Amino acid sequence: MNVLAFSGSLRQGSFNSGLVRAAAELAPSGMLIEQADISAIPLYNGDDDGDSKPEAVERLARQVQNADALLFATPEYNYSIPGVLKNAIDWLSRVEGSVFAGKPAAIMGASMGGMGTSRSQYHLRQVLVCLDVPLLNKPEVFVSAAHQKCDDNGDLTDEKARDMIAKQLQALKGWHATLKG
Ligand code: FNR
Repeated sequence: MNVLAFSGSLRQGSFNSGLVRAAAELAPSGMLIEQADISAIPLYNGDDDGDSKPEAVERLARQVQNADALLFATPEYNYSIPGVLKNAIDWLSRVEGSVFAGKPAAIMGASMGGMGTSRSQYHLRQVLVCLDVPLLNKPEVFVSAAHQKCDDNGDLTDEKARDMIAKQLQALKGWHATLKG
C-alpha cells in the first residue's frame, strides 16, 4: 500500500514534516509512506491553466494518481490551511481525471498552540469533501504544543503522539481495505 504524504509546511525543521517522517517510521507492515514535494508548485494562475499544466503540477498529479492512499499533515495558519497546501490542492484539482476522487486519506497536524491544528484540519476536511476524497474520520491526530514534542530538526519524540500516529495509520490501512475490497 503506497501512501503519498503532504506536509503543509515548506519550513526546514517543520513539525508537520516531522509528523510525516514519524508516520513513515511507524507505518504498519505493507504500507510505504513517501513525502510529496509541493515546494515547486507555482502559485495558481488561471492564465497558466491550459490543457497542459506546469510540469511540477503534472508530476505531482501522477504521484497522487499512483498512490493507494493519501496522508495530510497540516499546520494551522490563522485558524485555517496554509496557503502553500491549499494552492497545491487547487492546482491538482485542475488536472484532468479528478486525481483525488476516491483516494482514501487521513489528516494529522501539529502546531505550537493548544488546539493542535483542529480548526485547520476541519477546513481541510471541507476542501477534500469537495474533491470527493473518502476521509478517515477517526482516530484524529492533533499534536498540540509541538515545540515541546519535537526536537530541533522537527522530529517527533513524544511517545503519546507517536502512538496516536501509529493508530491512525493502522486505521487508514483498514479504511483502504474496506473501500477497495
Ligand atoms: C501560525 N501559527 C498558528 N498556530 C495555531 O495553532 N493556530 C493559528 O491560527 C496559527 N496561525 C499562524 C499563522 C501564521 C501565518 C504562521 C506563520 C503561524 C503557528 C504555527 O502553528 C507554527 O508556526 C507551526 O510550527 C507551523 O507548522 P510547521 O512549519 O512547524 O510545520
